[in-house]
Order: sequence, then C-alpha cells, then structure tokens
Amino acid sequence: MSIYLDNGATSYPKAPGVGEAMLDYVNNVGANVNRSTYATASTAAMILLDTREQLCRLFNFDDPTHVIFTPGMTAGLNMLLKGYLKAGDHVIVSSMEHNAMMRPLIQLEKEGVEFSRIPADRDGIARAEDILPLIRPNTKLVAVMHASNVCGSLLPVKEIGAICRERNIPFILDAAQTAGHYPIDFKELGLSALCAPGHKGLLGPQGIGVMLMDHEFAKSVEPLIAGGTGSASDSEELPPYMPDRFESGTMNIPGVYGLNAALTYILEKGVDHFRAHEEKLTQRFLDGLKDIPVRLAGTEDMAKRVGVIAVDFTGHDNAEAAFALEQMGILTRCGLHCAPSAHKTLGTFPQGVVRFSLGYASTEADVDGALEAIRTIAR
Ligand SMILES: Cc1ncc(COP(=O)(O)O)c(C=O)c1O
Repeated sequence: MSIYLDNGATSYPKAPGVGEAMLDYVNNVGANVNRSTYATASTAAMILLDTREQLCRLFNFDDPTHVIFTPGMTAGLNMLLKGYLKAGDHVIVSSMEHNAMMRPLIQLEKEGVEFSRIPADRDGIARAEDILPLIRPNTKLVAVMHASNVCGSLLPVKEIGAICRERNIPFILDAAQTAGHYPIDFKELGLSALCAPGHKGLLGPQGIGVMLMDHEFAKSVEPLIAGGTGSASDSEELPPYMPDRFESGTMNIPGVYGLNAALTYILEKGVDHFRAHEEKLTQRFLDGLKDIPVRLAGTEDMAKRVGVIAVDFTGHDNAEAAFALEQMGILTRCGLHCAPSAHKTLGTFPQGVVRFSLGYASTEADVDGALEAIRTIAR
C-alpha cells in the first residue's frame, strides 16, 4: 500500500466519475464538436458548454464564451504571454514563479520584452507593496502564481489585483496550485485572465486546461494557434468571436468529459470543503515536523499557505531521502520542481527539497505515515 503525496504534480485519485465519463464519450458518443449537427455531436457540444458554465460558477466569472479549453496550463500561459506581449513591453512576475511562466518570458526577453520579479522572503512570502517600485511607464502586465508549487506559500493576489486595477495594468493569475484547493473569485481579484490545469486540484485528466479572459483583455491577445474552428468556414481568417478565436483544431473532448465529471464533484462539495480538509491535514503535518531535525522551507502560517509542504533533510541528500521514502511507500517529488528561482528565494538551491503535496483524498493516517517515515530517515 502506498501513500500518494504528489498531488502538486498531478492529483490522484481523480474525482469519482472521471474515468467513467471519459469512457462514455469514447465508447458511446465519439463525435467532434462544432463541425456537425447530428445528435451525438450536439450531446458533446452541450457537455462543452456545461463545463464552461461550471467553470464560471467555480471562479465567479460571467461569460462562458470567454472560458477557453487549452491543452494544459503551460499551453495557456504561453498563449497569454506570447499573444499579448510585444518588444518594448515590461512585465512584473514574482521570484517564486514556475518555469511555465519563466521559460516563455525568457524566450520573449530575446525579442525585447523585459521583466522584473517581486522579491519573496526566505519563507516564500511576497508583499504586494513591493510591486510599486517595479512599475515602469512600459509595464504592460503583472503575471503571478497564486501559490507556490515548491513550498505552498500564497501570494497576496487580492492586494496585487487592487494595485493593478488602480493603475490599469492587466493582471493574470497562474492558479495551478490553487484551482480546486482554494477559493478563487475572478471578479474580486480584478483578474484579466486566469489559467489552470485540469489535472491537479480540479481532479480531472491530463491534457486539458482552462483559460478565462475578460472581454477587454481578450481583445488585446493575438491567438498563438490558428486553424479550423468549424465556424466561419468561408474565411481564411480566424473568427473574431469567442471562444472559437482561441480554440482552433479538434480539442481534447474526452478530457472535457472527464473535467466535467470532476467539476460536478467539486461544485457539489464546494471548494471551502477541500480547503478546510487540506488546512487540517497541513496543520497536522507542520505540527508533526516540529520535533524532527529537518527544515521546513516555507511559512508555518496556515492562512498564508496551501498543502504543498517542502522539507529539506539537512545533512542528508534530499534525492536519497525521497528514494528512502519511496521504499517505505511514501510517494513524493524531490529536486527543483521546475522552479529554480523559487528555490533560490527559499535558500534551497541547488539541493532542492522533498515535496509532500496533499489532496482531497489524503487522510490523517497518510500524514502520520509520512511523518513516521521522515522521522526514521532524519534520525
Ligand atoms: C505553479 C505552476 N504553474 C504551472 C504549472 C504547469 O502545469 P502543467 O505542467 O500542468 O502544464 C505547474 C505544474 O506543476 C505549477 O505548479
């Protein structure tokens, strides 16, 4: 029996009904969407619309036509950054970003886009006011993660959103580690766009992501991918309307069916339910770590974090510790988690940490089992 604590990489198990919904589509529906009008094509189209509406309810967003399905979180961020930024533009990110944000920006830097990082402290905590000295006349975007995939710290996105709104700077959110785990209100945060993967806290399959864009911002983003949409087929231009403008080519329809089943489950339980469960387990984990000679990288303040727990086995090799954990059935992720800048901020570069990431199906027994194993290795 193993204890799965790698939900930051991908959630497991998936929500009840995800596999069945995907199988139902493949075996019993099978039709493409937006191309034909027969019954099964309409059935699939209705599931797509229903899923967009579910996402509107989840993120308090108004318009299902501005909910775009993407091949994943990374694809969504690339679409936004590369479709919006131009030579001479300046972007503000944080020092905690994942490479899904940084690698497209490094590519764009070669084309004349500049960026600055809001510095976070050694616990991965950033202060919203530290954005102020970074703002320049050519600052065209603020793009940050909601929670760190390394140590779980939450960025002060409400305050950052308020600063952006006052100055009319578009604000986009990487919700990879919070969607489904932590409440997100698109309107309250004053977001211009949000990206999330289907396969982490949204409890759906891999290969499907979502991108929500407000009306104004969507007009200023050039689609990265162009092709057939099944609409406006008399023209070789992309249609101007949404969501078609950003959904060229046949999409991952089995993925949408799986995501639909997962969202049904999440909306029925409510995100607050998942947050409360993870809060309780994270607190138990952090309390348990206190008498073990390892370093917790990241804050102990539960109000400022999610259930992604970074442990540095000081005096031991973290990769060996992760291997020893695996031998005891505890599944984690060691290394640098595609986030070198975050590890430099936390003082865990280049040794990395062992990351324990909780999910909706994690239990107190899982936490206790992990703590026991950590104690054995650290001894
Ligand atoms: C904060 C953050 N952003 C972006 C990503 C990229 O997500 P994906 O690999 O699903 O495209 C991840 C994945 O770990 C992440 O944790």
